Amino acid sequence: MDIFAKAVQFTRAKELQATGFYPYFFPVEGSEATEVVIDGRRRVMVGSNNYLGLTHDPRVVEAAQAAIRKYGSACTGSRFLNGNTDLHERLEDELAKLTGKAAGLVFSTGFQTNLGVISALVSRNDVVYIDKLNHASIVDGCFLSLGETVRFRHGDLDDLESQLRRSDEGKGKLIAVDGVFSMEGDIADLPRLTELREEYGARLLVDDAHAIGVLGPTGAGTAEHFGLTDQVDLILGTFSKSFASIGGFVVGDEPVIHYIKHNARSLIFSASMPPSACATVLACIDVLRQEPERRLRLWDHARKMRAGFTSLGFDIGDSQAPIIPVIIGDNFRTFQFWKALFDNGVFTNPVVSPAVPENSARIRTSYIATHTEEQLDFVLEVFGRVGRSMGII
Ligand SMILES: Cc1ncc(COP(=O)(O)O)c(C=O)c1O
Repeated sequence: MDIFAKAVQFTRAKELQATGFYPYFFPVEGSEATEVVIDGRRRVMVGSNNYLGLTHDPRVVEAAQAAIRKYGSACTGSRFLNGNTDLHERLEDELAKLTGKAAGLVFSTGFQTNLGVISALVSRNDVVYIDKLNHASIVDGCFLSLGETVRFRHGDLDDLESQLRRSDEGKGKLIAVDGVFSMEGDIADLPRLTELREEYGARLLVDDAHAIGVLGPTGAGTAEHFGLTDQVDLILGTFSKSFASIGGFVVGDEPVIHYIKHNARSLIFSASMPPSACATVLACIDVLRQEPERRLRLWDHARKMRAGFTSLGFDIGDSQAPIIPVIIGDNFRTFQFWKALFDNGVFTNPVVSPAVPENSARIRTSYIATHTEEQLDFVLEVFGRVGRSMGII
């Protein structure tokens, strides 16, 4: 059997391309954050994770440029050896301060952070409990670990509790959840999760990729939002969303971070974040502190869009964050809807099964603090017009 046979047999994407409704890998030819140019035409962007709108902020861009001038374009090596700089360490201190934790560690991506943290911590005699809709990087971190993985139904903490009740007392336990779920926009029930952590002697890891810079009075994430920072053992995050760059981090108690630093293979055997990315994130943290109104504007936008979609008659699930899914159901109909939005000047993300459960395919929309009211009104007007013409509303 030729190992490449599966590639020849893989026709699903090509079949979709032939229909003209293939929605992936579009090259963006220019960007001003809230609007992008694709195929020579401007489209309002409601499919990014640029929550604070900082990718084009002059202070952020200048910080990145200054770091390139000082350190060059990259470190060309792992932090373990030649790829560590004072900027990486300053960033770790700032992240620990921002989240109210003792120590921090930065990785080259958020994905690698989950791979490294979970595989380093969950050993042969341990169990990791994960929500079924957690991000792929948590799932893959579990695959890499030597321990047992137990999945519970999305948001169903009775299901989690019954699994915990059945667990072997002698095993180490880690509960890992997304703080804000990336395709649903709902928020993990940390009050109940922290009770279960306490009752069953488990540790709790929260992936705040979509909550850092967004949730909590200072933008420190889901734990801050609920006032439960001390009861969450590890907070993970990424720099590819609110922090306008690339990279990831974990914060927690010093001995745990020290252990991860010396055992996470995705940290040790991979080149470090470029210094310009560290400088970008440091500048974003400054802006987050100086301009809380950005976060508040983002929440105003989310409220406006939730009300707008609902009054148009769309199903937006349980969205509680600046991620708002518009649920269509059927995969192909979702591609058709996506294409009509795109052709009418609105860029969104189609998310179909198996990435989401069968018959819950959706258009994922997400918002940027710097969107204007006019842009958001335009998005609602296009959704309404297309939705009516396709009989979705
Ligand atoms: C919940 C969650 N965790 C982790 C990641 C991975 O982050 P990164 O883009 O930095 O690899 C993402 C990105 O989509 C995410 O949504």
